[in-house]
Amino acid sequence: MHGHGTSARTADAQRASGARASRAAKAAPASGTAARTASADEVTRLKARVRELASELTRTQEATRRRVAQELHDSLGAEVTAARFALANVETWLPADAPPQCTTALETAQRSLDAVTEAAQQAVTELHAPTLDKGIVCALSHWINTFAARTGLRMSFVCAADARLMRLSADASLAVFRVAQEALNNVAKHARASGADMRIEATAHHLSIVVSDDGIGIPPHAGQDERQFGLAGMRARCNAFDGELQVGASDGDASGTTVHARFEWKALMGNASRPRARRTAIRL
Ligand SMILES: Nc1ncnc2c1ncn2[C@@H]1O[C@H](COP(=O)(O)OP(=O)(O)OP(=O)(O)O)[C@@H](O)[C@H]1O
Ligand SMILES: [Mg+2]
Repeated sequence: MHGHGTSARTADAQRASGARASRAAKAAPASGTAARTASADEVTRLKARVRELASELTRTQEATRRRVAQELHDSLGAEVTAARFALANVETWLPADAPPQCTTALETAQRSLDAVTEAAQQAVTELHAPTLDKGIVCALSHWINTFAARTGLRMSFVCAADARLMRLSADASLAVFRVAQEALNNVAKHARASGADMRIEATAHHLSIVVSDDGIGIPPHAGQDERQFGLAGMRARCNAFDGELQVGASDGDASGTTVHARFEWKALMGNASRPRARRTAIRL
């Protein structure tokens, strides 16, 4: 009997444990779903946070650019103007029998000041936000023409005909513009290219800027130096609009680098409702 009792208890225990197991088995999918929902919520929350931080970073960069532009304009600009006046006075007071080396030295100094003035003006123009009243395509095409004239690079610009390009907010247009601007500045600075092509592509969900050059190609681990801000800034601007940045070798046999910056239309168009998104007045 004892044995039977034991086996009865064992059977009871088995039944009880079977019932527990089956309850657990029934509960498992529910808790699995709950865990999945929780982690999906977490991912959504973290994505929103990344977006917020990326926007914060780009706002700070714009504010810094404005400050540097102002500083350049006010301090360097004023000092150069003063130096020009001083040199002009020296020229006026130079005696007629002054050695020719004096005149040559004065001319050299004036030419240097002209070069500094032009470089500073160029820097101030780049640092300030562009005029975007006529839309991003117009602003980019104007910038590309100026860039080609300044650098001597052969440029092409192809743009998708998409009406949404005319409806971008100021923040979104500025992000797209800055990414394109840095991609081209990098070509001029690093690529040793003879030309570059820019394409604006539009699909149902994404707007992309693709910049390809025929230069020496990008070194591995480029952009990991914390003193370099270009690629990091481009990535942050893409992230702020739910996009991403890819930089790599151009396709096929072509040498050179291709930058592919992608933004999500939904984020670009819905910027007005973004938390803490601020619209800044755009002026040159
Ligand atoms: N088109 C390109 N061709 C070749 N190398 C490139 C190209 N674009 C970027 N690079 C490489 O990637 C590096 C990182 O670029 P990034 O724009 O982040 O910094 P930077 O241009 O050196 O400095 P910054 O933009 O802060 O003035 C560059 O130093 C360069 O070596
Ligand atoms: Mg750069």
